[in-house]
Amino acid sequence: MGLVSAKDMLETARKEGYAVGQFNINNLEWTKAILTAAQEANSPVILGVSEGAARYMTGFDTVVGMVEGMLKNLDITVPVALHLDHGSFEGAKACIEAGFSSVMFDGSHYPIDENIEKTKEIVKYANERGISVEAEVGAIGGEEDGVVGTGEVADPQECKQIADLGVTMLAAGIGNIHGKYPDNWQGLSFDVLKEIQDITGQMPLVLHGGSGIPTDMIKEAISLGVSKINVNTELQLVFAEATRKYIEEGKDKVGKGFDPRKILKPGYERIIAGVKEKMDIFGSTNKA
Ligand code: 13P
Repeated sequence: MGLVSAKDMLETARKEGYAVGQFNINNLEWTKAILTAAQEANSPVILGVSEGAARYMTGFDTVVGMVEGMLKNLDITVPVALHLDHGSFEGAKACIEAGFSSVMFDGSHYPIDENIEKTKEIVKYANERGISVEAEVGAIGGEEDGVVGTGEVADPQECKQIADLGVTMLAAGIGNIHGKYPDNWQGLSFDVLKEIQDITGQMPLVLHGGSGIPTDMIKEAISLGVSKINVNTELQLVFAEATRKYIEEGKDKVGKGFDPRKILKPGYERIIAGVKEKMDIFGSTNKA
């Protein structure tokens, strides 16, 4: 099956009370691991690509070519969306032209009127081409220059204004943060999430910063309309840990252990296990 928009998979997830994982890709191993996990778990999946990761992989065309090639060569039959994560206005348009099936336009750092205008334009451009669109209200916090900020909490009225533009899914800050959560993290603001759900109706909601959120909070968020959960840092951590172990145990010095395919294998396998674990928690296993 070729790439699909995230619309159908998220609307079904929203109706049936589970969430589809967005897992960010960085290279070939990451992509192959996530697709393999989705196929084995018989789960729909969203491959997230930040603009930085796309640049690292040499550009949007390479990403599209690699992912489409893998869908074919790995005989992937589960629904897969290729999604731009936290895209700029220009980035979102360029991804649509390159063949992505879904984009996020993150206008949360603009004043709300400008966010609305720009989101509207991306929605029109994407809708004409059958591409799903994620918009964001209330910037999601994270670590910047070593300073950990508390995640912003979105204004439900602004969420409604953006949801009404015809976006497919909406990311709203509810105290979530990208990267590791600090020890004194206050947790997710479920009251605000509930207000956002009440005001936006059946709109699939997106939870960013999915790494390190306790399972009970994930389940509560899903029960309040979250249908897409983004995970990146957790997979980077397990990949790094497995790779470090391989080197620290001196395995690269035994026989042909220096072969890059051997060095990257333990991390690759940990990504598969990590993705499947998340799919079980999110409830998307066997929902393809
Ligand atoms: P984490 O890196 O905290 O898992 O967040 C991922 C994310 O939200 C990507 O948009």
